[in-house]
Amino acid sequence: MMAQNSRLFEADSKYADPKDDKDSIRSLDGSQTSSSSSSLKRRRDGDEGYEDHSHRKKLVTEESLHSEKVATHYNKLQECGLAERNKSRIVHMRNFNNWLKSVLIGEFLDKVRHRRRDITVLDLGCGKGGDLLKWKKGRIDKLVCADIAAVSIEQCQQRYNDIRRRGHPNDRTYSAEFITADCSRELLSEKLRDPEMQFDLCSCQFVCHYSFESEEQADTMLRNACERLRPGGFFIGTTPDAYELVKRLEESDSNSFGNEVFSVTFQKKGEYPLFGCQYDFNLEGVVNVPEFLVYFPLFEEMAKKYNMRLVYKKTFNEFFEEKVKDEKNKVLMQWMQGLEQYPPDERGRLASDSPGEYDHAKRVAADPAVRHPLGTLSKSEWEATSIYLVYVFEKML
Ligand SMILES: C[S@@+](CC[C@H](N)C(=O)[O-])C[C@H]1O[C@@H](n2cnc3c(N)ncnc32)[C@H](O)[C@@H]1O
Repeated sequence: MMAQNSRLFEADSKYADPKDDKDSIRSLDGSQTSSSSSSLKRRRDGDEGYEDHSHRKKLVTEESLHSEKVATHYNKLQECGLAERNKSRIVHMRNFNNWLKSVLIGEFLDKVRHRRRDITVLDLGCGKGGDLLKWKKGRIDKLVCADIAAVSIEQCQQRYNDIRRRGHPNDRTYSAEFITADCSRELLSEKLRDPEMQFDLCSCQFVCHYSFESEEQADTMLRNACERLRPGGFFIGTTPDAYELVKRLEESDSNSFGNEVFSVTFQKKGEYPLFGCQYDFNLEGVVNVPEFLVYFPLFEEMAKKYNMRLVYKKTFNEFFEEKVKDEKNKVLMQWMQGLEQYPPDERGRLASDSPGEYDHAKRVAADPAVRHPLGTLSKSEWEATSIYLVYVFEKML
């Protein structure tokens, strides 16, 4: 919970994170960090599923189909304007997530800038270019954008051209390269204009979970993220937290859980394989493409192959609580409208009329020592956003 007298605060502590993720996840899926690496090794040494050829063929076909589904889904997503986005039930949560990415990106660009003047970035799974302005604000020099969805890449390039055109003549915009590729199957190094290119930062926002369908795919995604990083460079990203997903699933009396803004549906309960543990994430009633659990201790273990050291892993709640203490980040949060005003002003309305959605805010607001208005998200939005975690790895010498 955030400090009660803060103007920005968080929802119920029942969504607070466990003290020790590793221990908790062990008890849920019955495996341990060490057993995950031994299971990894077993798979490398000759996984049962890959010995039978017909089965392998079936796996490959299903995996390719899934990649196609991801590309088709994202290609079809309409680019809606600002006005449309502002009408969304989850506009503040989207802004909140965007704030979080801005703070994360800013933090690590600052670190890189201490060491180098010219900064080169890889935006892996860039989508339609939602982070292009963050790269401009971060004064980088070169950007490579890669995504599996060709239409998203086109829109990303269009958006980049618009940013360049709109910019003041003295206001230098970074150069950019756009690559359509399934980064869980293809090597980006073979598609780069300059095959020797090296990156200072790789940003992979809300993407890695699509590649955990198989060990090979997850490994290729990690390879693309890390192999061209300079020593001292960072791999940063966001992904759903397997611990949180499994905990909530186990607490539910069916194969799914959720609320008025999102739902998550697993195919099975009680069995959580390291790869290919599929679930459907449905946000604002829109069925998304299937995602796969990313068991973080395994992710960390796999990243070691590319000489990556974990700098930190934080849940969104932890990240928010820590970073919002910084005045600069707090001002950015207000500017980005990442939190909703509570109580709303006389002309305003809350994002939800459902009972209980703002009880947490009401409780804090009732304290006479607290200054009004407060900033918050509805209970359902907190529940949705607190599924995610932030991670940062550094490339070792
Ligand atoms: C939730 S969106 C996030 C987009 C962007 N990173 C952001 O934060 O706004 C996930 C993106 O990952 C991309 N993606 C999924 N699987 C991929 C893969 N195998 N290779 C490259 N991109 C992939 C999707 O096409 C989509 O653009």
